[in-house]
Amino acid sequence: MAEAYTLPPEPRRHSEKSARKLQSANREPPREQQVAATPPSLAERYASVRATTEHIAKPLTAEDQTIQSMPDASPTKWHRAHTTWFFETFVLSPHVDGYQTFADRYGYLFNSYYEAVGPRHARPARGMITRPGIADIADYRAYVDEAMLRLLKSPSPAVQPLLELGLNHEQQHQELILTDIKHAFSLNPIQPVYTEAPAKAECGRQKTEWLSFEGGIYQIGHFGSDFAFDNEGPAHDELVRRFRITDRPVSTGDYRAFIADGGYERPEFWLSDGWATVQTMQWQAPGYWQKEGDGWSAYTLHGARALDDDEPVAHVSYYEAAAFAAWAGKRLPTEFEWEVAARNTPGEPNWDAAVRAHPRRLVTGFLQDVWEWTASPYHPYPGYRQAAGAIGEYNGKFMVNQMVLRGRSCATPPGHHRPTYRNFFPPPARWQFSGFRLAEDA
Ligand SMILES: [Fe+2]
Repeated sequence: MAEAYTLPPEPRRHSEKSARKLQSANREPPREQQVAATPPSLAERYASVRATTEHIAKPLTAEDQTIQSMPDASPTKWHRAHTTWFFETFVLSPHVDGYQTFADRYGYLFNSYYEAVGPRHARPARGMITRPGIADIADYRAYVDEAMLRLLKSPSPAVQPLLELGLNHEQQHQELILTDIKHAFSLNPIQPVYTEAPAKAECGRQKTEWLSFEGGIYQIGHFGSDFAFDNEGPAHDELVRRFRITDRPVSTGDYRAFIADGGYERPEFWLSDGWATVQTMQWQAPGYWQKEGDGWSAYTLHGARALDDDEPVAHVSYYEAAAFAAWAGKRLPTEFEWEVAARNTPGEPNWDAAVRAHPRRLVTGFLQDVWEWTASPYHPYPGYRQAAGAIGEYNGKFMVNQMVLRGRSCATPPGHHRPTYRNFFPPPARWQFSGFRLAEDA
């Protein structure tokens, strides 16, 4: 049974309009080939992605959009402005003759980490910026949108890859808007509700199955002409030994058993850095879990809720994932094993496409509602070369001291995923919707 959307209905997508037009002209339902023959134009895709950002931000007040609860999390207002700055800096300024930036000082405020572009406001202090306000940011977005839509009437070949990057970049920030405001709201004793919870799917608990894969040399990484981030390539060969991997991530119920067995008090399960982090941070459970009598509840973007054992466990760090695996007598999959399994497992969860504020109950498959930690450090693939200039700073300079996560999460925009997609975070990070699944040698 499909669940209701967790966010308010989105503005109608241009691509849907095109499909409807086609349908009424033919006076019969469009065949798949006909819809596929009229893909949305660049301008339509641009407008759609930009509208989705505004849609996600809409339930948030000016105060909500200004707060920054920790250095890793940015204010909603900053995300809305930074994604706009990205198009202005990398598309409009270099490719539109005589383009005038909206406001000179915005480059300093909304540059994230691009050294080649120039100095910038300190990341931990983004929440100290009350001006420009959200109305100014709306004006900024409208100004850049107008210039972008004018440019996209006849874009040069050089603009198209930058536009793709800008759209995918904005989709990454759409996810961050949700995870960052969740962190801020979680610190508020009144436990704000971002959206009301939808009805839950009635699915009986299913037993986790193990999938087996033969060893061999597999091609890993993105190939083909469709968009992928530079860190997904070059495609290359990897030797993978026979392995088994679970057909779904670890559930909240599974994780509760780990806690009940003293998981957070037994150093034998933990990596040294993980155990030190548990001590320092006084962790006793995943992020956002809170003691409720003898048990636990969790803060969610739907407010405080009882735990649901059938949901994937979320908001765990790499350290917690690795400790659980050690407790279970298993291990985490490498990112190569994950990709081999995802590419060679038919069928995916038959879910409607929507950004969600909270993970759904588990089903079998590799595109779940939590990102999945892997045992692989975030390193460049053989032959990887960082692009020249500021754009080269997008991914390459972060390839140290982080671990790879695969899949997607409930907050990932529809279509913004691939079997080769490499997300990455430092081992202690747990404010994303991060979970994991288990693997073992066969
Ligand atoms: Fe960014």
